[in-house]
Amino acid sequence: MNDSTGNDSTAISVDAGHPAVRFEDVTKRYGGVVAVDAIGFDIAPGTLVTLLGPSGCGKTTTLRLIAGLEQASGGRILIDGTDVTALSAAERDVSMVFQSYALFPHMDVMENVSYGLKAMGLKKAEVEARAAEKLSLVGLSGYEKRQPSELSGGQQQRVAVARAIVLEPKVLLFDEPLSNLDAKLRRRVRDEIRGLQQDLALTVVYVTHDQEEALAVSDRIIVMRSARVAQDGTPRELYNAPASRFVADFMGDANLLEATVGKHHGEVAEVRVGPLSLDLPHRRIVPGAAALAVRPHAVRLAAASDGKGAIEGRVTKAAYLGDHMEYTVTTVSPEAELFATDADVNRPHAVGAEVAVRLDPESVVLVAND
Ligand SMILES: Nc1ncnc2c1ncn2[C@@H]1O[C@H](COP(=O)(O)OP(=O)(O)OP(=O)(O)O)[C@@H](O)[C@H]1O
Ligand SMILES: [Mg+2]
Repeated sequence: MNDSTGNDSTAISVDAGHPAVRFEDVTKRYGGVVAVDAIGFDIAPGTLVTLLGPSGCGKTTTLRLIAGLEQASGGRILIDGTDVTALSAAERDVSMVFQSYALFPHMDVMENVSYGLKAMGLKKAEVEARAAEKLSLVGLSGYEKRQPSELSGGQQQRVAVARAIVLEPKVLLFDEPLSNLDAKLRRRVRDEIRGLQQDLALTVVYVTHDQEEALAVSDRIIVMRSARVAQDGTPRELYNAPASRFVADFMGDANLLEATVGKHHGEVAEVRVGPLSLDLPHRRIVPGAAALAVRPHAVRLAAASDGKGAIEGRVTKAAYLGDHMEYTVTTVSPEAELFATDADVNRPHAVGAEVAVRLDPESVVLVAND
């Protein structure tokens, strides 16, 4: 799972040939700045792979290296088995949808989508037929004559998608394509991109720093940290088996508690967290100090009177969210501010209340300190 060249069982098989994209020890330096540091991964054809990570970790640089908009300082880049490391953007069969989708402002929708095909020298009738087909795919038939300024943000985004897919590239790149959209539209366009990718079996590399978006659309996620790959796996693997504290923290609101791992017994070890003792899969984490990643729904709160052997805490925030409660609970041993969700909305714990905290062992995972 932490093997950057591995392919996942959910990914469409690559035995038909080569990975759509392969990075071998690729480095990109800008003067003294190492933006991408000897990274390697494979992207299987017909899959959507997301590069996820905090600002400045090297996501856009990685996309631009695939597109040929930047030249690698070291390593090799292969597209569909061909070494493209030294090729220019025009010589690679790749299209990119930029964060600001940059439609040509003085061209109408049809002209925007047709532009690349015309530049390839195709006949007018064929250009228009192919452009019309892609506009219909993104749900914009009837908008051919509109100017970009006469479209909503989401519609402009879809024109940008149509303009990229009409070229039928081997690889389609998206750099934070939804960042200019409001939450509702973001979900819709996100689902459209994923639907289109699956229907047409497109190979897509998608950049975001939003972990929920990454979980929702991806076959695989490559988590990046400081110019390197922190972990490469399916959404499920990253969520359930984070390789490090960093990944656990980045994927899904996990609370990280100080824990002590005891002796291994087969696959499990006794793990102590404050007064709690849990038998958990040790995941080859050696005895000693480690961290326990605890999902918000794994934090179980009870009245303090029911507190024998539990972690003692005090509710410092409580919010009613309709179908669940959200709490912040401050604890002393271990010292933590726990974010907790609770489906019981009818008997809420009040702010200031002393509570007994237990953890659902099914929804916690041990991670190495890093
Ligand atoms: N042209 C450049 N010259 C010098 N440094 C650069 C250049 N482009 C990027 N960098 C640096 O390389 C690192 C990676 O940048 P990159 O744009 O790939 O980050 P990112 O992960 O896309 O971040 P964000 O989420 O903020 O878009 C950053 O430290 C950035 O400052
Ligand atoms: Mg970026």
